[in-house]
Amino acid sequence: MSVLTIIEFPDPRLRTKAEPVSVFDAELKQFVADMFETMYDANGVGLAATQVNVHKQVLVADMSDERNQPLALINPRLVQKDGAQVYQEGCLSFPGIYADVTRALKVTVKANDVDGNEIEREFEGPLAVCIQHEMDHLAGKVFVDYLSPLKRSMLLKRLEKQRKQAATA
Ligand code: NI
Repeated sequence: MSVLTIIEFPDPRLRTKAEPVSVFDAELKQFVADMFETMYDANGVGLAATQVNVHKQVLVADMSDERNQPLALINPRLVQKDGAQVYQEGCLSFPGIYADVTRALKVTVKANDVDGNEIEREFEGPLAVCIQHEMDHLAGKVFVDYLSPLKRSMLLKRLEKQRKQAATA
């Protein structure tokens, strides 16, 4: 297994729309294993293939405290959403940046598992936030797209400042 490089905003490759996966082979399983390793290594709760510059519809997530509930969704499609919640989100492509985003409280998602089987899952609360956030990445969207222009520019300035500090530290 290997830890992959996570691309960071404003890298334009984050805007790429991912292609559906049609071949469920050993290479795909290896890629999913690498995505989990990359996510756990970065202490993230979710990761989309887009963020490691692979433009295929693959996402991984684990919101458990024990980091023992890995979830991989291939070709996820939203089939139903209900309610609303506000949750403070972060993103491995925006290190150190957090913002409140409003999303559906509950979502039903159809997807494939790593073997290509059709699955349907319901998610609620923080895990529903995570799945919606990662599905956005696969569509070339990022969480700051939901913020007001003023709030977004404030956060992006902070991101720049942190980068400069990190570079001189
Ligand atoms: Ni993200």
